[in-house]
Amino acid sequence: MSTSTNVYWHDHAICRRDREIQAGHRSCLLWFTGLSGSGKSTLAQAVDERLHDLGCRSYVLDGDNVRHHLCGDLGFDEDSRKENIRRISEVAKLFVDSGTITLTAFISPLREDRERARSLLADGDFIEIFCDAGLEVCEQRDVKGLYKRARRGEIPHFTGISSPYEAPDQAEIVVRTGELSIEECVDQVLNYLATNKELSLKPRAAA
Ligand code: ADX
Repeated sequence: MSTSTNVYWHDHAICRRDREIQAGHRSCLLWFTGLSGSGKSTLAQAVDERLHDLGCRSYVLDGDNVRHHLCGDLGFDEDSRKENIRRISEVAKLFVDSGTITLTAFISPLREDRERARSLLADGDFIEIFCDAGLEVCEQRDVKGLYKRARRGEIPHFTGISSPYEAPDQAEIVVRTGELSIEECVDQVLNYLATNKELSLKPRAAA
């Protein structure tokens, strides 16, 4: 989907593998999905901190933040959410190409949109992480007070209330964020990376 004409692709002089070798680890995309209040952002930030402490290059793209600027023109109807996820998928792909362990925390409620994001990357580079906290738990937490407002009919298209959430059926990682501690969830993600992406869990000695 492009209306840009007369534009040419330039290959980089430094390729992704060069950047990964310098970073000392593989890059990949950790795609956190789940209801609002399911702990996506909190967990992504905690994983990011742990990766940083290990000496890795990592970065979090977060729904609430991205919607202030890059996607500040989008609402929450289905077309807007699709466009939100399309933009962020393309940005995340660039981050992965830069050798960064990239974490995205978006509700991303539709399977089709998440699968499209997956299709942009090579096999094994897209790691879907389902933050599995039920609607009751998220609604009870209601950290931002949005569920209460959505129930009163003040927020249209609210995920889980008046807009659908399609849970993944084949996520690489399912974290029970409604029941486990943040540390337990972080360990689960890090152990996956150690097993599947050869990530060393030993902090790298300072140069
Ligand atoms: S997504 O569906 O397009 O992936 P995204 O993750 O960017 O959503 O934004 C979700 C955040 O926007 C929620 O955590 C919440 O703070 C806020 N928000 C505002 N309106 C809505 C709504 N109608 N549905 C869900 N979240 C909303």
